[in-house]
Amino acid sequence: MNKNDIFKIGIGTWKVDPDNFEKDLEALKYSFELGQNYLPLSMLYNNGKVVERMKEFIKLVGRENLFICANLERYVEKIEDVENQLNNYLKILDLDYIDCFQIHTFAVCKVSMLDIYKEINRLVELGKVKYIGVSNVNLEQLKEIRSVSKVDFFEGVYNLDCKYYENTGLTEYCKKNDIIFTAYQPLRRNRIAQKNYVFLKQLAEKYNKKQNQIMINWIVKEKEIMPLIKSTNKDRIKENIEALNFDMEKVDYETLNEFQNEKINTIEINWNEESGVTIDQLANQNEENHN
Ligand SMILES: NC(=O)c1ccc[n+]([C@@H]2O[C@H](COP(=O)([O-])OP(=O)(O)OC[C@H]3O[C@@H](n4cnc5c(N)ncnc54)[C@H](OP(=O)(O)O)[C@@H]3O)[C@@H](O)[C@H]2O)c1
Repeated sequence: MNKNDIFKIGIGTWKVDPDNFEKDLEALKYSFELGQNYLPLSMLYNNGKVVERMKEFIKLVGRENLFICANLERYVEKIEDVENQLNNYLKILDLDYIDCFQIHTFAVCKVSMLDIYKEINRLVELGKVKYIGVSNVNLEQLKEIRSVSKVDFFEGVYNLDCKYYENTGLTEYCKKNDIIFTAYQPLRRNRIAQKNYVFLKQLAEKYNKKQNQIMINWIVKEKEIMPLIKSTNKDRIKENIEALNFDMEKVDYETLNEFQNEKINTIEINWNEESGVTIDQLANQNEENHN
């Protein structure tokens, strides 16, 4: 599938339940029927069991109708591990190629980031990978990767509370360089709505929408970011997609643009294994512990 054919909201797969998959398969099918076609996969979820079960979903809706993004996990001891991990996905899912392959995080990788990306480029030449992604790096690292490789997708944490990548210029850099920014934890796992920020509640009332719908609408329409939202509840899947069906006034988008959760956005990020919070844990921090 061409990257221009991807639906504006991706399907989140963390916490899809492989042991009770019939219900979740129904929900995934429903997401697909409503247009969702971007499927991120990670071998970390339930020790690979989620990927195994996704084979049924892929068969059900047709491989060519999905854009499948697979994560290279951090256990890269030698360069051959990159292709081995890819082959493992292809084998489990019975596929010839993966649409997008990306490193999940560089922490504890034994092979250098640039060598990994040169290797992923070789896999593109072999036709086993179509597009190249990267996740959980900072702007400096992204620029470094781009010195040896094209990058089509960047997957990072982004939501109303966690604007690290915007505040450090990475979202803008992606826009300028034709890199699709896909946001994980776009709803901060429903925790932002539960806080009931007054301005967010007022916007929800004004447009007669849920707070999560206000945030999804803003992320997609104003930020031009593609949220990956996990939901295996049909009502919430519908609600999330219906969040695209309205527009807000400029002044309201500005309110959301200007909001900064100072406690979260000033947390030191651990990029060098020394101190701070790793970026993948940023949205899980309890702001009460950070002043
Ligand atoms: N690259 C990375 O390091 C990384 C890290 C984290 C996540 N990810 C990917 O990004 C995806 C999204 O992130 P996430 O799952 O962590 O967080 P999220 O999408 O912000 O939140 C998912 C949670 O919110 C609930 N939910 C969804 N829509 C809702 C709504 N309209 N109202 C109330 N609750 C709602 C879901 O429950 P129900 O299912 O019950 O609706 C689920 O518990 C993941 O699934 C995963 O594929 C990648």
